[in-house]
Amino acid sequence: MGFIDYEVEGAVGIITINRPKALNALNADVLTELEQTFDAVDLKTVRCLILTGAGDKSFVAGADIGAMSTMSKEEGKAFGKKGNDIFLKIEKFPIPVIAAINGFALGGGCEISMSCDIRICSDTAMFGQPEVGLGITPGFGGTQRLARLVGAGMAKQLIYTARNIKADEAFRIGLVNAVYPLEELMPAAKKMAATIAGNAPFAVRACKKAINEGLQVSIDEGAAIEEDLFGACFETYGQREGMANFLRKKDDPKKVKKVAFLDE
Ligand code: CAA
Repeated sequence: MGFIDYEVEGAVGIITINRPKALNALNADVLTELEQTFDAVDLKTVRCLILTGAGDKSFVAGADIGAMSTMSKEEGKAFGKKGNDIFLKIEKFPIPVIAAINGFALGGGCEISMSCDIRICSDTAMFGQPEVGLGITPGFGGTQRLARLVGAGMAKQLIYTARNIKADEAFRIGLVNAVYPLEELMPAAKKMAATIAGNAPFAVRACKKAINEGLQVSIDEGAAIEEDLFGACFETYGQREGMANFLRKKDDPKKVKKVAFLDE
């Protein structure tokens, strides 16, 4: 891969967007490679992903402005669909994806982070949707996901003003869950990913599906989705062993404290 690095540490996969000359901006090739990388993740053994950007300055500085500058209406729409399709794939990816945002997350960079399950960032990070200053709308999901994450009023303010915000403000409005000194960001992301990967894998995937699908429907339909997925967990190794472990601990607190959940 030319623009994407992928490494696996235990049950955690780390995907790094690596196009330093353009602050990791997303052109069609980067997007294609990103999709291929997600398609190649071994879901039998990898239980959580971290998505980050190469270098210490930028997560992703947006879609590639040079490439977009000469696009026709049809090409612009197709480019938006390409980005949206891949970001939807990330959002619906069976295992959790943590965005470790290590600098600029502008335009498509903010948008890709919002397609991830969890966002944490460095204190050097900067977020924004600068598109209206470039004569376009956000095009990789920004008009949809930002409003869902921080509320319509705040999303409209950020998008209409094209104002960038720093990490502390992103934290305050709920766009990111936590802010770390830059050097502590990846260790924190790995620690969180390892914690997630240490829980029952079938159950974690079911939680992601239930939350994501439930957000799209009424509370009654959401409850039905949850019931199906809750039921599906029973008779799995994770459910049997997780509960048996709790009961063993009750009998004798010295017995195994943490289940080593098998892949399932
Ligand atoms: N597209 C293409 N190239 C980009 C880029 C982008 N989005 N962002 C940065 N680069 C390139 C610069 O052109 C520059 O290349 P050269 O060295 O060849 O000139 C290199 O990366 C370094 O950038 P700067 O010299 O500008 O670095 P800086 O530290 O002075 O500024 C920055 C950093 C504030 C992020 C600035 O680069 C910037 O504003 N970038 C554009 C951010 C932006 O507007 N993103 C939204 C794009 S639109 C979008 O994403 C649409 C969508 O929703 C799909």
